[in-house]
Amino acid sequence: MPAEQVCHPRFARIYQRFAPQMDKAGAGEHRDEMLADLTGRVIEVGAGTGLNFGRYPSTVTEVLAVEPEPSLRRSAEKAAKDAPVPVTVVDGVASALPAEDATFDAAVASLVLCSIRDLPGALAEICRVMKPGGELCFYEHVRSERAVPGALQRALDVAWPHMAGGCHTSRDTASEITRAGYEIEHMRRFSFRPSIFMAPVAPHIIGVARRPAK
Ligand SMILES: C[S@@+](CC[C@H](N)C(=O)[O-])C[C@H]1O[C@@H](n2cnc3c(N)ncnc32)[C@H](O)[C@@H]1O
Repeated sequence: MPAEQVCHPRFARIYQRFAPQMDKAGAGEHRDEMLADLTGRVIEVGAGTGLNFGRYPSTVTEVLAVEPEPSLRRSAEKAAKDAPVPVTVVDGVASALPAEDATFDAAVASLVLCSIRDLPGALAEICRVMKPGGELCFYEHVRSERAVPGALQRALDVAWPHMAGGCHTSRDTASEITRAGYEIEHMRRFSFRPSIFMAPVAPHIIGVARRPAK
């Protein structure tokens, strides 16, 4: 079966413009928190414009950054040149990663698991390319734990993905990670709403999930 196509030029233009502002408003600190303890070979899925690249610690020896959207990938290629650690940007989707089994110490997913069409397939694929005991570092917006906002998010998801490059507001990503066989080592929930327009995606999680060692 051919891999899924991801091409959202309008969303890509908007993201290229607004994501740096969100980083200044606090997302940058969340990225630092997510990346701080990484070591060794890392695969980043759906790297976007490469906003994580400049924040990788020197304990990371190499990053393979997978980005399917052509315009975002071009920006990521530019960002890779200035990164403090070696970053290679490649085309590919999370549900068919261009990598061998058990070859990465860690994987990074930021603000991306909301957009991947086949989330269980992607989580299984990330598990495949990570060494046993490897860690998936995630920073994601998720479904609210409160009933009414959660129901509103589910209703909004009829239209939101069409406007936001396939992003869903109501994914219960932590449960999906657990269902995929990872062990969540630590995770915190928090609200982050840098602008009123971001209210539907305010609930966030950040943490580490491990591929079981056996
Ligand atoms: C909101 S952007 C986040 C980009 C980046 N991770 C960041 O933290 O800024 C969502 C990203 O998911 C990517 N994406 C969507 N579907 C994907 C898939 N099936 N596999 C990999 N990446 C995907 C998009 O191309 C886009 O780069």
